[in-house]
Amino acid sequence: YTVDWDASAAEKGGWDSFMDKEIHEDPAAVQRTLLGRFDKNGDVALDEVRIDEHDFKAIDKIIVIACGTAAYAGMVAKYAIEHWVRIPVEIELAHEFRYRDPILTPRTLVVAISQSGETMDTLMALRHAREQGSKVLAICNTQGASIPRESDAVLYTHAGPEVAVASTKAFVAQITAAYLLGLYLAQVKGAMFRDEIRHILDSLKNMPRKIQWMLDTQTKTIHQAAERMLNAQSFLFLGRHVGYPVALEGALKLKEIAYTFTEGFAAGELKHGPIALVDEGEPVVFIVPPERGRNVLHAKVLSGIEEVKARGAFIIAVAEEGDKDVERYADVVFWRPACPTLMSPLVDVVPLQLFAMDMAKLKGYDVDKPRNLAKSVTVE
Ligand code: G6P
Repeated sequence: YTVDWDASAAEKGGWDSFMDKEIHEDPAAVQRTLLGRFDKNGDVALDEVRIDEHDFKAIDKIIVIACGTAAYAGMVAKYAIEHWVRIPVEIELAHEFRYRDPILTPRTLVVAISQSGETMDTLMALRHAREQGSKVLAICNTQGASIPRESDAVLYTHAGPEVAVASTKAFVAQITAAYLLGLYLAQVKGAMFRDEIRHILDSLKNMPRKIQWMLDTQTKTIHQAAERMLNAQSFLFLGRHVGYPVALEGALKLKEIAYTFTEGFAAGELKHGPIALVDEGEPVVFIVPPERGRNVLHAKVLSGIEEVKARGAFIIAVAEEGDKDVERYADVVFWRPACPTLMSPLVDVVPLQLFAMDMAKLKGYDVDKPRNLAKSVTVE
């Protein structure tokens, strides 16, 4: 018995593209990023964060600098870290940050997120931050790259090498690492009870299984949706709270590899402009937050769905399994298993990655090497 693969097919581990392989590694990317990051009591132990404990405790603001997908991971983390640690978290595109006059103090922790660790915009921004006396912590997927080398501390994401230009598994790993950092900070600062932190960690540890469920059960629906939407000229992606950066990331994936004109918006902005774009048959993708605990956000997003439905939009929703309201209005639903709102981005991005990939493949594009893009952009 021999396997008839050429060398590049072998690297893809049986998948027909790196992107396909890497999306299917989303659960493992989260899992591996969690590995070895707890002490024997189950507390977060980030030994590699070698920032003096006194300095670390004194941190009163976080600024995340990043580009592209990494920046959206940072945006997700802002919602979680501000809620957990009760310190302000700003997120800024590295190229914008560098050329204004950002307020940095020794108590500011600058977190540089980068899959490759070589993005020049991010590297220049981190140099600027260090010159101003701030500590820089890198969240990076590439051992020994320039960004981790020049940072005060590094938290590696262990997603494994990412080959496809459009980032996928690195995104979920970056969110996981940023969450660990937030929970560690909450622990060190005493911002939360230990039991609360444990409870959140348990939810986080459950996420690889939930992502796997999404991959195992929703792939066919996603593929069929891509087939149906093949001739769509544009898409709108809408989400609220952590669903907002997920919408931006979903829109980015579709631009990058399917070359489809796509915009992501905060769902609350709909009435302030984007709804003017909605016409008969316009595809609108909604990230619907979990319904549990009479989540007020759920009702808000649902009213957005009703608004665009009334104008004839074609609605694709990512929603919690069993969400009857969504089932009533949406034309297609990608189901997520129940999980806390702050954990939902780890699952919700997965169908959007698959959807973009399916669209691009159906159009006959090379999903691993989209036109005009580079995996790491080493010029400013
Ligand atoms: C490029 C890639 C994107 C990536 C961005 C940031 O533009 O095409 O996929 O998100 O750079 O890359 P980094 O390596 O810093 O995460």
